Amino acid sequence: MIKKGIILSGGMGTRMSPLTKAVNKQLLPIYDKPLIFYPLSILMLSKIKDILIIVNKGQLSQYKKILPDGKKLGIKINYKEQSTPKGLPDAFILGEKFIGKSNVALILGDNFFYGQYLSKKLLDCVKLKNGAKVLLHRVSKPEKYGVAKVKNNKITFIKEKPKKFISDLAITGLYFFDNKVVKYSKKLKPSNRNELEITDLLNKYKKTNKLSADYIGRGGAWLDTGSIDDFYKTTNFVSAIENRQGFKIACLEEIALLNKWIKKKQIKEAIKFYGNCEYSSYLKKLI
Ligand code: G1P
Repeated sequence: MIKKGIILSGGMGTRMSPLTKAVNKQLLPIYDKPLIFYPLSILMLSKIKDILIIVNKGQLSQYKKILPDGKKLGIKINYKEQSTPKGLPDAFILGEKFIGKSNVALILGDNFFYGQYLSKKLLDCVKLKNGAKVLLHRVSKPEKYGVAKVKNNKITFIKEKPKKFISDLAITGLYFFDNKVVKYSKKLKPSNRNELEITDLLNKYKKTNKLSADYIGRGGAWLDTGSIDDFYKTTNFVSAIENRQGFKIACLEEIALLNKWIKKKQIKEAIKFYGNCEYSSYLKKLI
């Protein structure tokens, strides 16, 4: 069982400047809550309670204002600062102490997942004992992502942002790894763009036949929040679903309550913390 998870929430958010000059991208809103709530909700839906959030140097205090230590959600949030973004696998080097002897999940701070049966799939993924597992999703612009070629249910080839078409199956920003991930990450060499590449890390697992894949089918959504346009598209998606159903996506307190990690008392405290707002009105309805 994977019981630890890392959210990689660093990056300079250059493509979203000037919005990101003073505020970290993951603290900007996707509709009615900060972006970071969405990947955090995915880890919580995976029943992962021990979480490391990697943030940019100097931005820790911003995060702690909204997500102090996780106690109020019945989870444990640890933080680690990253001085410069060095590529995704750096998360496992920075997180070595946090990971210890455990297996670990990694989610990128700007990835949005939604769909029926998603929780069930996540609970399946965290059962991983050996190897690595990725979630694939068909996209119309695969050249923007790491992609995987699959034959007979096996990944036969992976490539980061291929210029020429290889496959339209994007490797989403949610990964599950065994403990070898730390050792493998330390052995990686920076790529041409001077970053440690997640695809190189996944290739190490592929070489030993230890890389498996699951899918987010067409009924599920994996959205990008890389650019300002993507931010608004994701916001529109969340707004449409929430207003139609009356349920919130990624309401952290609701997930914690349903997981029985917190009680009504903590919901009342959360209402006080957030103050008089629509999010609090939703929390009131829960109890
Ligand atoms: C990163 C990974 C890529 C993956 C994507 C998912 O891309 O390098 O393999 O498909 O996240 O969001 P980047 O965010 O660096 O463009």
